[in-house]
Amino acid sequence: MQIVIQGAGRGIGHAMAKQAMAAGATQLILTARHPARTAAFRDLPPSDLVHWVKMDFLDPPSITVAATDIINKMPRIDRLVMVAGVLRDDVTQPEKRLADIDPNALHHSYQINAIGPILLVKSLWPALRQPHPLVVASLSARVGSIADNRLGGWYGYRASKAALNQLSHTAAIELARYNPESCMVTLHPGTVDTDLSRPFQKKDANTPPFSADHSAAQLWHVMDHLRPAQTGGFFAYDGRSIPF
Ligand SMILES: NC(=O)c1ccc[n+]([C@@H]2O[C@H](COP(=O)([O-])OP(=O)(O)OC[C@H]3O[C@@H](n4cnc5c(N)ncnc54)[C@H](OP(=O)(O)O)[C@@H]3O)[C@@H](O)[C@H]2O)c1
Repeated sequence: MQIVIQGAGRGIGHAMAKQAMAAGATQLILTARHPARTAAFRDLPPSDLVHWVKMDFLDPPSITVAATDIINKMPRIDRLVMVAGVLRDDVTQPEKRLADIDPNALHHSYQINAIGPILLVKSLWPALRQPHPLVVASLSARVGSIADNRLGGWYGYRASKAALNQLSHTAAIELARYNPESCMVTLHPGTVDTDLSRPFQKKDANTPPFSADHSAAQLWHVMDHLRPAQTGGFFAYDGRSIPF
């Protein structure tokens, strides 16, 4: 299987890269903003099988350049997993209330969580559109579900993940017209012990977070069992559908 994992440097993406190897990838292309600085690069160094490509969702030209490189190496992709996500960094913070909303922070969340993934799909289109079995999955989050939103807060993260869900659903419809064997979805990985969630984990939580390896194994199993009839959907790590 020819596999591309965007955001493979750390966290769930790193665990996904290990899953891809264990699943017998014949070619594996991994991306990060600074590949050589990542833990995954040390774990899975470049080889005949593994290629690393630099890509930053905050820099759209880097997506086009990286996609050209990817298509040259892999004219047909069988599985594309997009992992990038931001909840808190030096630009954005999860908003507790309306007064916390900042337009730059909102834009930043959209760029990484929603716009980057759809630009990557657009740029990789020639390797996706011909008829062949294909799974395209973007990591979303249950908090991006509008139907499931009872707590409020986290405006930018929720809204950008809802936008990701809509963009993925829309592209899934278009992709199916060209490649009827495709299945393009968004996935919720559960609460996972990574840099992203660590500042928000509750010490007294009834259930501990998943490890990244556990979550990636679950998500890989879900992707293995996805069928074209499920394209456009939003699924959790246990395979259950999540309402938009
Ligand atoms: N952890 C959870 O509990 C949880 C729950 C629900 C959903 N999720 C989602 O799962 C995904 C993975 O999260 P994680 O927990 O593994 O978080 P993480 O360890 O913080 O990893 C974040 C990932 O996003 C990438 N990224 C950040 N900014 C980027 C940019 N400008 N361009 C390209 N890539 C960028 C990072 O790549 P670099 O290495 O290049 O920085 C890294 O691969 C995210 O989409 C997140 O929203 C996580």
